[in-house]
Amino acid sequence: MQRTQSVTIDVESFAASARPVQYDDLDLESAFRARPLSPEALRCIRYMHDIESHTVCYLRDLLLTESHRDPRITTFLTTWAWEEQWHGVALAKVLEAHGETAGDDRIAATRSALGLKDKLGPLITTLGSVLARRDFVAVHMTWGAINEWSTQAGYARLAELEDHPVLSELLERIQRQEARHIAFYATEARERLEASPRARKLVRFALNKLWAPVGSGVVPKEETAFLVQHLLCGQGGEAWVKKLDQRLERLPGMEGLGLVRRELTRWESVPTAVAA
Ligand SMILES: [Fe+2]
Ligand SMILES: [Fe+2]
Repeated sequence: MQRTQSVTIDVESFAASARPVQYDDLDLESAFRARPLSPEALRCIRYMHDIESHTVCYLRDLLLTESHRDPRITTFLTTWAWEEQWHGVALAKVLEAHGETAGDDRIAATRSALGLKDKLGPLITTLGSVLARRDFVAVHMTWGAINEWSTQAGYARLAELEDHPVLSELLERIQRQEARHIAFYATEARERLEASPRARKLVRFALNKLWAPVGSGVVPKEETAFLVQHLLCGQGGEAWVKKLDQRLERLPGMEGLGLVRRELTRWESVPTAVAA
């Protein structure tokens, strides 16, 4: 397999330093009994819990693609899925501290609600990989970078909006691990985009045609609309939209893409009432 030279992320160290995000030293029960989160924040946490917990299903699909041929990438993905799993567990504790059902029961319900989508997802991803050939990995890495950037921004913005000391501490810890994921995806994406004009063209095309906020294919559309509107609309959200687009557009070939702004426009008018 062809690989370009500069390898800046030491995946072995990354894997060896992985550990579950720590939450057991935070007294979540007492903290949220004393000051419960707002209904809006809880709705965002449910989304985040569901999607963090869905990572292993994304991993299932990704292992069917060209990406599985690169052992550095599979070492990263193994570790990435492990860390994301624990983000889901930590967020489940927040929901449970509010008397909500979370963890396995909620995750099983989310997966079974996917129905046919759950069967088609792996086939579509595999087909994409077959068509893109080895440049699929560039799509995967760039897609991963914008997903991780936007996830980290979501946590930062939720902490900012809610201003709850214990929630902020937990989300800060999760964000530090998301930063490790960002470092890998963005470095690998840059390397591949720099090396191949075909990859630049293909990634730009794929993001333009297919990218949507992480989790939007898993949860009902009113949930994605709510999350986008709550976290990215208004003055505080505007700064994050700009920042996210700037980050993505610093990657080779992604200049002027305006992806996050486009998604904001798409989701800001979608109704957020929960379907009966
Ligand atoms: Fe995560
Ligand atoms: Fe992550």
